[in-house]
Amino acid sequence: MKEPVFVSPAEIAASKAAAKRVKDEVYDLGLTYHIESYGCQMNEHDSEKIAGMMEEMGYAKAEDKSKADFIIFNTCCIREHAEQRVYGNIGALKKRKDENPQLMIGVCGCMMQQKDAGRKLFKRFPFVDIVFGTNELHRFPLLFEEAYHGERTLQVRDMDGEIAEGLPVCRNSTFSTFTNITYGCNNFCSYCIVPYVRGRERSRNSADIVNEVKGLALAGFKEVTLLGQNVNSYKGDGETTDFPALLRMVHDQVPELKRIRFMTSHPKDLSSGLIDAMAELPRVCKHIHLPVQSGSSRILKLMNRSYNREKYLHQVALAKRYMPDLVLTTDIIVGFPGETDEDFEDTISLCEEVRYDALFTFIFSPRAGTPAAKMDDPTPKEEKNRRFDRLCDTQNRISLEIHQGYVGRTLRVLVDGREKEMLTARTEGGRLVRFAGDDSLIGQFLDVTITGCTTWSLVGEVK
Ligand code: SAH
Ligand code: SF4
Ligand code: F3S
Repeated sequence: MKEPVFVSPAEIAASKAAAKRVKDEVYDLGLTYHIESYGCQMNEHDSEKIAGMMEEMGYAKAEDKSKADFIIFNTCCIREHAEQRVYGNIGALKKRKDENPQLMIGVCGCMMQQKDAGRKLFKRFPFVDIVFGTNELHRFPLLFEEAYHGERTLQVRDMDGEIAEGLPVCRNSTFSTFTNITYGCNNFCSYCIVPYVRGRERSRNSADIVNEVKGLALAGFKEVTLLGQNVNSYKGDGETTDFPALLRMVHDQVPELKRIRFMTSHPKDLSSGLIDAMAELPRVCKHIHLPVQSGSSRILKLMNRSYNREKYLHQVALAKRYMPDLVLTTDIIVGFPGETDEDFEDTISLCEEVRYDALFTFIFSPRAGTPAAKMDDPTPKEEKNRRFDRLCDTQNRISLEIHQGYVGRTLRVLVDGREKEMLTARTEGGRLVRFAGDDSLIGQFLDVTITGCTTWSLVGEVK
């Protein structure tokens, strides 16, 4: 891995100075912002940083999107569907901008970092005020200042990516949150756009991570998720600290934190050192999100995943041996170019063997510029849909069987919100539990006895 390039303190200071100038101008106008995130946790966490910068600029979070003075779309381009949703939603704002020219509109994130995408969007939607790519996040106040003074701004730089420390963050939760440990990705899986729009993989220094997590725990956060496209390949402090070592540091140096999570793990880097660290450290959640993508070694090779079915199954067996209560979840792509019935059956049999707690399933979506987009893809859409449904049916049966095994057990959960008349909570493994209770329990740990279940969740009561 190449040495990470840190954004200089002078640049961060210039950005903060711009934020201060905007604030001096707007502080008594009561202006508000609204952010829409379309992507993964990384994207959501970037939105929390945008929110932090907006607050530094004197804007408050809008109660209601329809009344916001600044609306920004933080885009994703992982699949076509994510892109289409954004276009529709930006187009829908034209009328509002005509009625209220004071309204400011921004578009940022991964989709804008794709070749020419930012420029095209800037041209196609002349009522959009600011467009910027993933490499400009820390410069957002400078761009915003220009746009606030009436100058439409487009900024997308094609570069390897840097690390910006010290950005303000306005977090969506008061008890469970995220911390980046790596940015970018070097894996170039043949279907995936992320390495092109997030730049080369780079690791934050462990001291910066530990300090941030410590601050969060002291501020009352109970759970922190360490984030990266591939956390297992973390190599911080000039490549001297690996991920298991980082996990131990966070665990031992922040005893106030009740739960430590991480995602995503790439099977090629799931080391025995990581399994040992997870098994030994009591406050590290026994949950691994370990995307397999396909159960066919032939397809895995075409995907450039650097492991095969046997190696994956071996790792899963090892992890389960050391952590009998381990919760395993995965991502699967159905209908990769050239996937045959036989390849697909390998995916089904792998799921039967591993018995995942949950799957995130996607139909292959060709992404311009990736090798897989150029591969021959003769399988009809209807056949891909049929495979997709069959995989979901298989998993639904397995999830239900696993859930039934929880009935009668008492589990420690962190209450995270309310859906209609029930509170929602998560077990250490990330299982969703619903039970009746008062809103004052949100953000608290509780022991809940499981009395029933559905395919998607456990149902319980507080004794
Ligand atoms: N870094 C993570 C995944 C990030 S993207 C990892 O490697 O595991 C999240 C998921 O989106 C991927 O695991 C994959 O299943 C899916 N995905 C990525 N590109 C896709 C594409 N072109 N079509 C369909 N699904 C895709
Ligand atoms: Fe994409 Fe592969 Fe990197 Fe994950 S590991 S972000 S799937 S290239
Ligand atoms: Fe995440 Fe989508 Fe970008 S999944 S990294 S927001 S392309």
